[in-house]
Amino acid sequence: MMRYFIGNWKMFGVPKSINILNKINLFHSRDKNRNKYRIIITPPFTLLETYSKYFKNKKISIGSQNCYQKEQFSSNTAAISPYMIKSVGATYTIVGHSDNRSEGDTNKMLKDKVNFSLKNNLKVIFCIGENKQEKKNKKTLAVLKKQITNVLSKKLNKKNIIVAYEPVWSIGTGELPSADELKKTTIFIKKILKGIFKQKSPAVLYGGSVDGKNVESFKKIKEIDGFLIGGASKSSKKFIDIIKNYYR
Ligand code: 13P
Repeated sequence: MMRYFIGNWKMFGVPKSINILNKINLFHSRDKNRNKYRIIITPPFTLLETYSKYFKNKKISIGSQNCYQKEQFSSNTAAISPYMIKSVGATYTIVGHSDNRSEGDTNKMLKDKVNFSLKNNLKVIFCIGENKQEKKNKKTLAVLKKQITNVLSKKLNKKNIIVAYEPVWSIGTGELPSADELKKTTIFIKKILKGIFKQKSPAVLYGGSVDGKNVESFKKIKEIDGFLIGGASKSSKKFIDIIKNYYR
């Protein structure tokens, strides 16, 4: 099974931060497990073009962290469309990160973002996840189901979609779901996705405080197809440690 290690830099990075990616790329080129996984990095918009061009023929794919919900050009100040992202060489985009949901992204907006991204040949990393209150009220599965079915539909090409389960309470906090809990939730997510996409689920990743240590406890959960990594993706050593320890 192909695994994914995705680094979401959030608001981090300047041109010289490419050194971090050079080290990760060097590690990958020498790693005996390299054919088992893909590395995707989502730097801020300011670095998309240079990084995409630089890594064009290498094994790191570059994506954006978000996109605007219109296809090509419009008069929305500071907005960047899927067409524009694709035009500078990026191949992925994240859609629906909890940071952006909490800033006002609605299901309708997310639907347009997913549709227009796929239409412009960007692969989509679609984020879902319950917040602390929803978890406390035992609403996790109901929330996840809604987040998925409100946005994804069978007409979309599932080969170009990756779903990332990121419990909001786990992002940047060091708090993790138990392995048992995470396995059950991942199986549930795949069941919903199989219902939509005719028996075959897109890849489902976990995200939230993943590091080189705790990744070991998740590797026995075969249903998890990889990880969406925030904080630890800003250091080549920390990011590489996650991959190393996953395959150890
Ligand atoms: P952390 O790994 O810093 O918890 O962030 C996870 C995340 O939000 C990635 O998109």
